[in-house]
Amino acid sequence: MTSSTPESSSGSSSGSTQGSAADSTTTGVDIVLENIVKKYPGQKSPAVTDLSLTIPAGEMVMFVGPSGCGKTTSLKMINRLIEPTSGTITIGGKDITRSNPTELRRQIGYVIQGGGLLPHMTVKQNIGIVPGLLGWDKKKIAARTDELLDLVGLDPDVYRDRYPRELSGGQQQRVGVARGLAADPPVILMDEPFGAVDPITRTRLQDELMSIQSELRKTIVIVTHDIDEAVKLGDRILVLDVGAEIAQYDTPDAILSAPANDYVADFVGAGSKLKQLTLLRVDDAELEQPETCHVGDDVAEVIARVSAAGKDSVLILDARERPREFLWLRTLRKWSKVPDFDPENSPIVDHRATLNDAMDQMLESSHAAVIVTNRGRFTGLVTFDAVTELLRSSTQAAHEAAGSSAAADGTVIGTPTASTGEVTGDE
Ligand SMILES: Nc1ncnc2c1ncn2[C@@H]1O[C@H](COP(=O)(O)OP(=O)(O)OP(=O)(O)O)[C@@H](O)[C@H]1O
Ligand SMILES: [Mg+2]
Repeated sequence: MTSSTPESSSGSSSGSTQGSAADSTTTGVDIVLENIVKKYPGQKSPAVTDLSLTIPAGEMVMFVGPSGCGKTTSLKMINRLIEPTSGTITIGGKDITRSNPTELRRQIGYVIQGGGLLPHMTVKQNIGIVPGLLGWDKKKIAARTDELLDLVGLDPDVYRDRYPRELSGGQQQRVGVARGLAADPPVILMDEPFGAVDPITRTRLQDELMSIQSELRKTIVIVTHDIDEAVKLGDRILVLDVGAEIAQYDTPDAILSAPANDYVADFVGAGSKLKQLTLLRVDDAELEQPETCHVGDDVAEVIARVSAAGKDSVLILDARERPREFLWLRTLRKWSKVPDFDPENSPIVDHRATLNDAMDQMLESSHAAVIVTNRGRFTGLVTFDAVTELLRSSTQAAHEAAGSSAAADGTVIGTPTASTGEVTGDE
């Protein structure tokens, strides 16, 4: 009953869902739990009753479920921070109960809420802990640290020598992610990694993690309370009930459109109406190309060019094509050379962000458009109109695909399939 192997991952990956193919770029490895039981001393019923699960190489799998259902316990058994009472876990085909726990943990990145940084160590020292234990030389560790800080969006020159108390919560979390990636482990475990940061920072961290993952294709397991986060990030979502019993294990699409039972439907449906917005990406929308200029350009020239194009605003980019600020020409007139701006207050999303994120940023910044980037570089604008248009066309398409069973408001498409819990593909 609690056993689950997603249809497309038994044996060799058939690659029928987003990113499930263990192709040549995948650096992750399979994680297989078989009949895992965890009973804490003195506990009446086990925290984990009987969990069997395959997490395919190179996928991002999200654990969700109510508080106390056994998410953290299940996660920590994978790196042996908690020992199972019975059952086996293999990683890349190797039985982990036979490996030395300390050595095992050096091969598995672990990221916890708030970053879990050691307060008396600098950012650089924190990130270098595992590489240091693995015997990397100082130069290699320093280079790796800078590379990772760049990857998580922190300027190495500014941040590498700071102490955790000199960082914001979101920055500490970024360093925590960098530390989890430091030794380039094939497996990364994250327990509510973005739970303690504000919504905008959380969105940016999620976007960065998706960009990183699209390149590295590690096997990543993330525990989260946030169903929208699970839908956004997950190749698959594991919905757990008390005792870590599997309620459903499937793609976000399948879980939203065909919840296996009322428990799952309630769990994913609660508090979120416009689920379609979470399933659709900025990438799916039509991007607009505004007039652009660069920091340091001659203002008179920019104004002449932009006016000639019939526009009254311009997007300022830096030398690396990163967006800085969107300005009215009449404001730009104040300067003779285009100045630099802190992009912190501009509505910017990664191209893989969800439309939900894009709408949040529009509302937050009171702009009718957000700036879209790909690994930090400007790619276009997504406007409110483009979002509503996309929502309209995709809802219509879903209605046509689902026939008369589609919900009239377009929030949840299709209906739960009968008894088997098998998901019939909607494509
Ligand atoms: N060290 C422990 N000793 C005894 N019981 C424990 C211990 N750790 C966890 N438990 C119990 O095991 C169950 C599962 O706990 P776990 O921390 O795995 O839940 P969780 O799903 O991560 O919850 P949350 O969402 O609140 O973090 C709970 O009933 C919890 O009280
Ligand atoms: Mg927990």
